[in-house]
Amino acid sequence: MQESIKYAFDRTAETYDRARRKLVPCFDEFYRAAIDALPFARDREITVLDLGAGTGLLSAFVAFSYPRARIVMVDISDEMLAQARDRFAAGGARFSFEVADYGVGQITGRYDAVVSALSIHHLADEQKRAVYAQAYAALNEGGILVNADQVRGETPALEARNHAMWLKRAREIGASEPDLRAALERMKFDRTATVAEQLEWLREIGFREVGVAYRNLIFAVYSGLK
Ligand SMILES: C[S@@+](CC[C@H](N)C(=O)[O-])C[C@H]1O[C@@H](n2cnc3c(N)ncnc32)[C@H](O)[C@@H]1O
Repeated sequence: MQESIKYAFDRTAETYDRARRKLVPCFDEFYRAAIDALPFARDREITVLDLGAGTGLLSAFVAFSYPRARIVMVDISDEMLAQARDRFAAGGARFSFEVADYGVGQITGRYDAVVSALSIHHLADEQKRAVYAQAYAALNEGGILVNADQVRGETPALEARNHAMWLKRAREIGASEPDLRAALERMKFDRTATVAEQLEWLREIGFREVGVAYRNLIFAVYSGLK
């Protein structure tokens, strides 16, 4: 399964960024909510782990808002991470990259923030939970987990409605049919969970101040503090 995910993202690495804004109709609010959830002073030298960093989109927003942040980007797709390496080529030692499956590996290092966008929903529920628990263990006191991700509707009818509305809005703002086809192909590997389920797991693990910062159809941003 993880090999299929790697293949699906390797194939689209070069065209990924161009299509993003149209495939995530709420792109600006979604990523902004993830950054706004970080509770640190902007001039702090925070350490950040980005799980499923892809081409480095979320990390780029973090780096822009936190110019002294040190960011480790992890991804299973070497092609996606190659784009991230290019993006941060001028950034020096602040940025590092690791090709790895975070669903099976152990998170090493200590971080002020573990962030992720549109990635953890590829894992089975027990793996999601294990990743959240590992993130908790790897966080410094006062650190935060922020996941900006795709989520499942609370009932099958809501899930179908949210999916249909997302597709309609993506078409309305001009997502191309080939990009939509590629997205729908990748979505076959999705294993989404509801927001409520995931907030409950975070609380059980020990996170505090667990809450939702943003929700729009199939997209949500939620976080917890250590
Ligand atoms: C939709 S992209 C999101 C990339 C980036 N976070 C963003 O916001 O644009 C999902 C990324 O998660 C990566 N991914 C999925 N499952 C993974 C896993 N188990 N370990 C590491 N990376 C994974 C994929 O290779 C892909 O680059």
